[in-house]
Amino acid sequence: MTTLPAANEPAPNDTEAPAEPVILRAERITKRFGGLLAVDDVSFGIPERTIVSLIGPNGAGKTTYFNMLTGLYRPTEGRILFDGRDITRSRPDVITARGVARTFQNIRLFGALTAIENVMIGHHARMRAGVFGAVLRPPWVRREEKETRERARDLLKYVGVKERDHDRLATQLAYGDQRRVEIARALASSPKLLLLDEPTAGMNPQESAVLTDFMRALRDDLKLTILLIEHDMKVVMGVSERITVLDHGRKIAEGDPAEVRANPAVIEAYLGKEG
Ligand SMILES: Nc1ncnc2c1ncn2[C@@H]1O[C@H](COP(=O)(O)OP(=O)(O)OP(=O)(O)O)[C@@H](O)[C@H]1O
Ligand SMILES: [Mg+2]
Repeated sequence: MTTLPAANEPAPNDTEAPAEPVILRAERITKRFGGLLAVDDVSFGIPERTIVSLIGPNGAGKTTYFNMLTGLYRPTEGRILFDGRDITRSRPDVITARGVARTFQNIRLFGALTAIENVMIGHHARMRAGVFGAVLRPPWVRREEKETRERARDLLKYVGVKERDHDRLATQLAYGDQRRVEIARALASSPKLLLLDEPTAGMNPQESAVLTDFMRALRDDLKLTILLIEHDMKVVMGVSERITVLDHGRKIAEGDPAEVRANPAVIEAYLGKEG
């Protein structure tokens, strides 16, 4: 026999806050490299249209986590849901096509291609022309290519790469500009979720501040959700709605910037590494 709650008692779920819509949910993710436990049972949700940061000392497992979310690594255990779908075992290109784009901690641009060509490659995930179209080049393929080039130009301008640099080899650009080209390439695939792995590395404080404003604009103008790995605490504390802290592969704290800053385990993890 089931007992009904008394009329003046709230139903069991009434007291819980309504679940905010999450674009990505990672459940109990573990990654082992042989005997090394790089990520240890870490769950994690990213609410839509927020900027969420993943921080932690060197070797904490941040990039490994990104690599699992983007399909470069398969989790040893756990499940990843993006936009309501299980992507745990999906290939990187499939995940990109679903709407997840990223930049890399170590810049990965094609050195033999110009800035604009690097961005055009990012759009490839969205193009209709396959190998057949690319070889025969019927008029619609040429049109598509022209549109892609124009869009790449617009994206480069949007991220702040000067026009005179668009047709230079990507690797000849200043370091900060190479990072911007990577972001433009990621945006070219029209993502819903953008993962940035230390985007301000190698930037001066002024460039970092510009990038911080730019991240907010991406969220507000393009309605993007951003997951950020970042060592610069000024950037992290200034831009994040939520922060998750990893240390030795484990989640040691989570919350808004004020909560995380005051958390003794976080202070310990950072001071321990410096001392
Ligand atoms: N492909 C791999 N094979 C073996 N071990 C790996 C591999 N990738 C990462 N690791 C190890 O996993 C652990 C976590 O590395 P990861 O690169 O994810 O750290 P991180 O938090 O991104 O650090 P950093 O802040 O220095 O970038 C480290 O001990 C690293 O050596
Ligand atoms: Mg890393």
